[in-house]
Amino acid sequence: MKEFIQNLPKAELHLHIEGTLEPEMMFELAQRNDIDLPYESVSQVKEAYNFEDLESFLDIYYQGSQVLQQERDFYDLTWAYLEKAASQNVRHTEIFFDPQSHTDRGIAFETAYRGIYQALQDGKAKFGISSQLILSFLRHLSQDEAFATLKQALPYKDTMVAVGLDSAEQGNPPSKFKEVFDKARAEGFLTVAHAGEEGPPEYIWEAIDLLKVSRIDHGVRSMEDPKLLDYLVEKQIPLTVCPLSNVELKVFDSMAKHNLKQLLNLGICATVNSDDPSYFGGYIAENYQAAQSALDLSRQEIYQLAKNSFQASFLPPESKHKLITEVDEYCGLAIET
Ligand code: HPA
Ligand code: ZN
Repeated sequence: MKEFIQNLPKAELHLHIEGTLEPEMMFELAQRNDIDLPYESVSQVKEAYNFEDLESFLDIYYQGSQVLQQERDFYDLTWAYLEKAASQNVRHTEIFFDPQSHTDRGIAFETAYRGIYQALQDGKAKFGISSQLILSFLRHLSQDEAFATLKQALPYKDTMVAVGLDSAEQGNPPSKFKEVFDKARAEGFLTVAHAGEEGPPEYIWEAIDLLKVSRIDHGVRSMEDPKLLDYLVEKQIPLTVCPLSNVELKVFDSMAKHNLKQLLNLGICATVNSDDPSYFGGYIAENYQAAQSALDLSRQEIYQLAKNSFQASFLPPESKHKLITEVDEYCGLAIET
């Protein structure tokens, strides 16, 4: 099963590039940029990754991002992720970046954007991994600040597929960002939003009704609202579920209590993703693996998750079709042998 998962063609749709910063690279970049870290060693960093909730994670995550200073740092970060993704047969990836966590420290929007984008171009050439960028607004900041970020992104809008919404969910509902999402859609962006990770099902409804999202990031608290579940099934609005993240941030007490299998079996287009792999202990294959063993997912269910990942992507229909055919062939062969 482990090998089956590793080699399974898959898409990753919920990945914060800043969340792929491995402790080793954190030290390397701190040295390169002459930054003092509050840690003595890699093992001390790992000890600090002991989270109580989303907020306690975000504090450490934003602190880690401070070592990212130059365009080449963003390039190296993204390149390391792509190497890992290629080794796990990720064929397509849709990557969030948080410009505000850089511009607020005096790093130009272009510095982050160019480094990430160049690595994605090179990743396509070297590994054949297709990719899309999603500009994510920090929801603990104001809508005016999100507008300013959108304005900075407009010259590059043809290279970004969507806008998203992340950071501290409780008390920062999707409705706070209605107008900036209206503007983003008018400019041609698709929309997604983190909702129903820690926040209530009402936030998922708001993301759908007000922000007109194509997907919900996380969305696991939809389970508390039967009408919402029916709606997600009927409209096939995908959820980008992140199992290890949810356990690390105490959204579920353990992986055995995760509702991924229930969501999938209700007919929801659920997908598996890694969120912030260096902080939560695993990339996409480890997420599939952890959910598979704790929830006893069958090969058929793993196959469905991989198909959903392409179905839920922002790829054009022909590419979706081609990649889903690859999954069909891979699973057909693997199940027979
Ligand atoms: N939730 C909200 N904000 C985030 C996350 C997440 O899982 N990861 C990085 N920023
Ligand atoms: Zn996330």
